Amino acid sequence: MKLLDGRAVSKEILKKVKEDIDHHIDKKHLGYNLSRPSMAIVLVGHNAASESYVRAKTKACEKADINYKIIRFDENISAFELISEIKLLNKSHFDGFIVQLPLPDHIEPNSIINEISAYKDIDGFHPLNFGKMALGQKSMRPATAYGILKLLQYYNIPTNSQHVVVIGRSNIVGKPISIMLGNDFEVGRSTVTSCDIHTPKELLKEESQKADIVIVAVGQPGFLTADMIKEGAVVIDVGINRLESGKLVGDCDFDGVSKKADYLTPVPGGVGPMTIAGLILNTYEAWKMKNL
Ligand code: GUN
Repeated sequence: MKLLDGRAVSKEILKKVKEDIDHHIDKKHLGYNLSRPSMAIVLVGHNAASESYVRAKTKACEKADINYKIIRFDENISAFELISEIKLLNKSHFDGFIVQLPLPDHIEPNSIINEISAYKDIDGFHPLNFGKMALGQKSMRPATAYGILKLLQYYNIPTNSQHVVVIGRSNIVGKPISIMLGNDFEVGRSTVTSCDIHTPKELLKEESQKADIVIVAVGQPGFLTADMIKEGAVVIDVGINRLESGKLVGDCDFDGVSKKADYLTPVPGGVGPMTIAGLILNTYEAWKMKNL
């Protein structure tokens, strides 16, 4: 079994993005002062997990030499006030920005996401980007799905004509990865079965046991067990769950699945860093769209 090292692949992507930006900025014939890409991160309240994800995002910006600013708001901010701030960010110099989720309960996330300019939506969550992605048009891609596809590509894991089972149907991960794999994302189309935690367990197992690639994103430690996959499968574990002991684990029973799968993403160090690589790639692409 080989671990898919998202940390190492992400590091390479960030290095390449930095070099590409340097290359564009060094080109004297542009004839004007091109500033480096910049990203803003909107953080509402004090969610411990969000703080840690945002730290990882800012570290990635530093590695890719992308300017960033964290913009913090009190957890009592109203949806109306937050939307006003989003409108300012839409007109700001930032090439892209994200609103870190989850938001406090009194703010409906879609009411905020829908206000983000599609051109600055580096998470790829805006309905316009999601719709274009679904239609197979060029768009800002949902960052986690983009990162997973880059990881599979890096390890030359074929997706064309492969049977993929995606467990989880969230707007952030499950839905977009199912759609992107079924579209022609640079590497051909997969045959995708989309399931979730409500799929009857026997039916789910029947499907996942036949899959060449299983992607699990349900947020339940130990959900995917070895008896649910076939020998030699590729398993992408999107879950990030903190146990009472403080240990971070994914959605797989790692010990069991690692004995049967050919490839597996570790948690941490698998999909997490690749989500950030997706975000950085989107920022670079937003900057290029604006300037080049
Ligand atoms: N919260 C958990 N994952 C994400 C993500 O990819 N983007 C944002 N904005 N919030 C998140």
